[in-house]
Amino acid sequence: MKKHFFSGIQPSGRLHIGNYLGAIKQWIELQDEYEPVFGIVDYHAITAPYEPSEMSARILDAAAGYLAAGLDPDKSIIMIQSRVSEHTELAWILNCQTSMGRLSRIPTFKEKVRQNPGEVGMGLFDYPVLMAADILLYKSHIVPVGEDQVPHLEFTREIARKFNTTFGDTFPEPAEVLSTGAKVMGLDGENKMSKSLDNCIYLDDSDKDIQKKIATAKTDPARKRRDDSGNPDICNIYSYHKIFSTPEELEYCAEGCRSAGIGCVECKKILVAHLEETIAPLREKRNELLAKPDAITEILLAGSDRAQKIARETMAEVKSRIGLTFG
Ligand code: TYM
Repeated sequence: MKKHFFSGIQPSGRLHIGNYLGAIKQWIELQDEYEPVFGIVDYHAITAPYEPSEMSARILDAAAGYLAAGLDPDKSIIMIQSRVSEHTELAWILNCQTSMGRLSRIPTFKEKVRQNPGEVGMGLFDYPVLMAADILLYKSHIVPVGEDQVPHLEFTREIARKFNTTFGDTFPEPAEVLSTGAKVMGLDGENKMSKSLDNCIYLDDSDKDIQKKIATAKTDPARKRRDDSGNPDICNIYSYHKIFSTPEELEYCAEGCRSAGIGCVECKKILVAHLEETIAPLREKRNELLAKPDAITEILLAGSDRAQKIARETMAEVKSRIGLTFG
């Protein structure tokens, strides 16, 4: 029997290349060795303001993105978090093992409070506990994620340790698995690529969108004119080259930038070709899949049922450990 692990994405916007390189690409590589559970984490997505009438379409869209990228429903379990009520059930039990002080020190929470002072709901505060429940419910040993999720994994390990010490060995302490694309920067060159900052290259962008976005994307801020030499190490476009380009192209762009042998326009052209090459097949496959939404729905419902079977076993063990076995 293959081991499981859980990872997921919030259906809070279109998938972007940060999601793809930081998470989905690694997921695909791991689906032969494990039987992974990939969630569309809709309970997490309602911790911020959202439009209820759009949620089902967002879930379908995320699933189409997963499948287009190469997740295989015969190897992986693709599911919707809110259809497996054990996620919130375990989150409650883990809440009882969590201190408010610890949650308030999680950097992602502190950041959200800075962004929205006065608008911090319990769901947002408790977000890492639900995420720990997602992970522990499937007894994950590994969790492939982007770098921004590392504080949540640290917290998950702590809560697993606390539970095991208090009630007996139940959960593994899961390790994050980070790829070379674990922190993809946004087109602004200042923040990580993020749906909420609108600084993204999306997996369904057209060639034209990509060309336009890269044409106006930030480069080395000190290189103002074509004849100025630049520093690729601080150029955001070069950070994308490191992910997408060949070693020869990397050398050509770095050397050309330092010596002013090539301008930013030429350097960007090489990148655009790679982005188009990567995104076009994903976009086309996604559109094909979205033309048959019933087939996607079937995969999601069957995946949620499969996930629930595993989740029920863990919950029975957890309830027995904590003494909720009356009758
Ligand atoms: P979310 O929806 O923000 O992002 C989904 C995945 O994409 C990664 N990612 C990035 N990787 C590299 N560079 C970027 N710019 C970038 N932006 C996003 C994220 O690290 C993540 O792996 N809390 C999670 C969802 C979640 C989850 C879980 C993940 C809920 N329960 C259990 C793993 C396990 C989140 O908000 O991801």
